[in-house]
Amino acid sequence: MSQPNFPAMRMRRGRASPWIRAMLAEARLHPSDLIWPLFVCAGSGCEEPIASLPGVSRWSVDRIGAKAKEAAALGIPCLALFPNTPSDLRTDDAREALNPDNLMCRAIKAIKDSCPEIGVLTDVALDPYTAHGHDGLVDASGYVLNDETSEVLTHQALVQAAAGADIVAPSDMMDGRIGTIRAALEREGHVNVAIMAYAAKYASAFYGPFRDAVGSRGLLKGDKKTYQMDPANGQEALREVALDLAEGADMVMVKPGLPYLDVVARVRDRFGVPTFAYQVSGEYAMIEAAAAAGAGERDALILETLMSFKRAGASGVLTYHAPDAARLMNG
Ligand code: PBG
Repeated sequence: MSQPNFPAMRMRRGRASPWIRAMLAEARLHPSDLIWPLFVCAGSGCEEPIASLPGVSRWSVDRIGAKAKEAAALGIPCLALFPNTPSDLRTDDAREALNPDNLMCRAIKAIKDSCPEIGVLTDVALDPYTAHGHDGLVDASGYVLNDETSEVLTHQALVQAAAGADIVAPSDMMDGRIGTIRAALEREGHVNVAIMAYAAKYASAFYGPFRDAVGSRGLLKGDKKTYQMDPANGQEALREVALDLAEGADMVMVKPGLPYLDVVARVRDRFGVPTFAYQVSGEYAMIEAAAAAGAGERDALILETLMSFKRAGASGVLTYHAPDAARLMNG
């Protein structure tokens, strides 16, 4: 093999010292890249650790304001909220999702009261409220109904917007719901409430700890493959994104994160819109397990995986490591 550019070109010159590596870095991580998902539980004065998500807890509404202040002090711009609805309030019609005084709405208000400068992103989906653990309404055969579910989700998004949500984030994968939610928000005067569409959300094995956190794991019958995407499909993700953008999504998300970095990169390249990745609960748990087993250094694993999202073109990342990562970046 001839080496036409050697020694004229030595790639290692650009790696020889920290200053030149810093100067030539193509992607950069900043706390403002992070969205921190928080789980909310009933009661007061409560912190409930989640066994399958070591280091992550559910917090009662009276303690959520302190988490918002912690985030703001670290430079994290936005929180994502997920409620663990008490089991006696879970019904087949998910009516608790529409209660303006539910855990989600009370948590939004608590954050806005204690820390108005931080953004609040809310999950629009019915799984924390249904007795069967699905993201939508089901018919007698167990099929998740599309249009009927969209109607409830639209109402849910309005309830969250009225409580003060800045970004509503439908995570349910029903067809057409971005359009109905956008139209309803406009009609009700919530013109500056943004929509982050979970546009390409896959039926993934990486959601287990999350389902523990919101209490839906034991309830869920079957799987979510009739609405969430097949992990085999990349082109289909582009079609999903195109539809959500046409319906009025301000930003799109790919979920899970690391196993779908190709999708993040393709979405960003094709559409050039704000594109977020969700490093989901199973990914967090995998990093924690690797660190606990001595297979890698925790801080380095966290920062390397987050950097990979930025390299792929993501605008930001939803990650349970957000506060630790921000501390490392601020270090
Ligand atoms: C459901 C929802 C899920 C997650 C966010 N919203 C799980 C699911 O689809 O079953 C997963 C997030 C995570 O695993 O961290 N609406």
